Amino acid sequence: MATLLFLAFLALRCTARLTIPASNAIVEVKAFNVATMTTIIPGVVLQPVVPGHNTIRIPLHAFLIEHSASKKRFMFDLGMRNDLLNLPPSVARQLQSGVFSVDPFKDITELLEEGGVPLESVETIIWSHSHFDHIGDMSKWPNTTNLVIGPGTNRSLFPEFPDSTLRASDFAGHNVTELNFDKTNLTFSGLPAIDYFGDGSFYLLNTPGHRVGHITALARVTPSTFIVLGADTCHHAGQLRPRPKFQATYPCPADLLAQTRASVSTDYFWSPGSHAGAFDMLSREQPLLSIADLPNSADADPVAGRVSLDKIAGFDADEDFLVVLSHDESLVGVLPYFPQSLTAWKGTRIKDKAVWGFVDQANPAFRFGP
Ligand SMILES: *[C@@H]1O[C@H](CO)[C@@H](O)[C@H](O)[C@H]1NC(C)=O
Ligand SMILES: *[C@@H]1O[C@H](CO)[C@@H](O)[C@H](O)[C@H]1NC(C)=O
Ligand SMILES: *[C@@H]1O[C@H](CO)[C@@H](O)[C@H](O)[C@H]1NC(C)=O
Ligand SMILES: *[C@@H]1O[C@H](CO)[C@@H](O)[C@H](O)[C@H]1NC(C)=O
Repeated sequence: MATLLFLAFLALRCTARLTIPASNAIVEVKAFNVATMTTIIPGVVLQPVVPGHNTIRIPLHAFLIEHSASKKRFMFDLGMRNDLLNLPPSVARQLQSGVFSVDPFKDITELLEEGGVPLESVETIIWSHSHFDHIGDMSKWPNTTNLVIGPGTNRSLFPEFPDSTLRASDFAGHNVTELNFDKTNLTFSGLPAIDYFGDGSFYLLNTPGHRVGHITALARVTPSTFIVLGADTCHHAGQLRPRPKFQATYPCPADLLAQTRASVSTDYFWSPGSHAGAFDMLSREQPLLSIADLPNSADADPVAGRVSLDKIAGFDADEDFLVVLSHDESLVGVLPYFPQSLTAWKGTRIKDKAVWGFVDQANPAFRFGP
């Protein structure tokens, strides 16, 4: 009896952790790195900007999702369109002025077709939000492809709205569905969730802050392991990490701990165990970087954005969840891309290899000291 009670307690503890209902239904997730974008104003997405790190080079991730039972295919985000002159003027101007620049690249529709994925086989595209670097070029998709957008997404179009970043061709011909989280009673790590297929394989999460309608996704890739598609909840791994629970599950490797003593500037970063010129990671209780909240912040609502990020961080601290952000530079080179699948991320130790990379001076995402 005592053993039974103990086992029941253990089972409850496991499921209570992030309260995801048990299911054997899964999806397969394949990631694309559509393009690499550079911006000379990193301060619009993260703070502090340490001198010498006045630019940021970010990947633009897109994801092919296949529902294993029905073989239905979905996309979560598309990266950006590659005919830059057809972007609405408010965006095109920023590319022309060099505020943003992008290496030449193939549109996601080309990458899919070259990879043997006919566009007609993709039933639905989900936009995490309506920024230009996520919505691709919808006019290249057949009108049979559905579009799903987050709650309250601003659908005002250029040219009626001169400053709009969307135009008619972003929606034309597609069946557009706006999500409504009011009807759901599921919450994971404090985030309202919609069970997209009704079988526990794929959830959409309401993560407001970055832009009105910003959503993320939780994909079950084996019955007990998950991938969180974190979109633009934040733009850099240093905005997620370190946090106390994360450090307890993923202790910083000794060599990096030693390296960061000298490499992380104590003029910009501090912790109770730090001394001038000797940073102590172990006693750091907040992430190294924060979401920008200056008037030019790329986040529509930085306060809401920080709360969404705190909730996503709950997944990051758990060894059954891999958080993949749209623009996490530290993942490039670690994350296997299409045609490889991310299903085996836990067994192949991708998370262990990835999570502390951002503080390694050899990693392009390092931006914490000279
Ligand atoms: C929607 O977007 C347009 C174009 O950028 C903008 O002018 C308008 O104020 C926005 N509406 C809301 C409710 O934010
Ligand atoms: C969808 O596209 C096809 C082929 O381009 C066209 O024949 C059809 O009229 C379109 N349907 C709608 C509802 O726009
Ligand atoms: C429109 O898209 C939604 C969401 O993908 C889907 O549930 C619905 O069946 C679609 N409607 C039509 C007419 O295709
Ligand atoms: C949540 O909603 C579902 C379907 O609407 C319902 O069956 C279930 O009992 C609800 N659960 C709770 C805890 O309210």
